[in-house]
Amino acid sequence: MITDQEIQQFSEMGAVTIDTPLTQQQLTAASTVFDRLLPFCEPKTGEKPRYRVSTTCTFYDPELLDIIQHPFFEEVAKRVLRADEIRFFQTAIVTTYPQPNTPFSFDQHVDIQYCLSDLDATPRRMVCTYFLWIDDVTAQRAPLMYRPGSHRLIAKNRESQPELKGIVPPVAGVSLDGLPALDYADAIPVVARVGQASVLTTGMVHGASINVDTLPRKAMVITFTAADVEIDLPQNQAATKRTYDRELKKRLRPERAHIVPA
Ligand SMILES: [Fe+2]
Repeated sequence: MITDQEIQQFSEMGAVTIDTPLTQQQLTAASTVFDRLLPFCEPKTGEKPRYRVSTTCTFYDPELLDIIQHPFFEEVAKRVLRADEIRFFQTAIVTTYPQPNTPFSFDQHVDIQYCLSDLDATPRRMVCTYFLWIDDVTAQRAPLMYRPGSHRLIAKNRESQPELKGIVPPVAGVSLDGLPALDYADAIPVVARVGQASVLTTGMVHGASINVDTLPRKAMVITFTAADVEIDLPQNQAATKRTYDRELKKRLRPERAHIVPA
């Protein structure tokens, strides 16, 4: 499932890639749904094409709900978050299409900032994020880029500020130039095989990159928190989540519905 060593890698580096028990059939079925929900649209005159297409907490396709409610993700999240019970937080699907004649580059930001006492608590007061790879992701095919260990440098810095310590911060994107200038490691790509999942924290410096390959890259993002840990979302995302949670709870199998907050 996930080894102690892999959990340690998640904790220290901020990301670890693990195998999942999803079958090729499940992954192919999910991939077909991605093609339907996230097509590449030719831009209207005067507009730029969008190569990164995504949607968050909007889909109920059985092929995707099967993945969200797969016991594997619940069990691994429990171990990673050191929690007896976990709850679904958010989900998104993203396709990054090849971007012709564009050099490789990537974004760098954090979505949330923790203190060391949040990261090292039991249960951990943080979001556990899965990037499930629906295709092979290579260094050319829009890998997620990240600076290993940067979440802990930021967390250590925040821990030393009394006004920030002990407060679970809301989700809010901050780009690298808005972060304290700490001794961050160089950014490296997450590469993985189809069907693997990268378990990570978006509290590390990370970002999407350009797809300089010839095939699209598809990822399903699923996030969880410990059952009794509250993480605040921006108002619009919180409203979308409440609606989605209500609907999801009705649509998951009865024996799996407990993963969705009441
Ligand atoms: Fe992000």
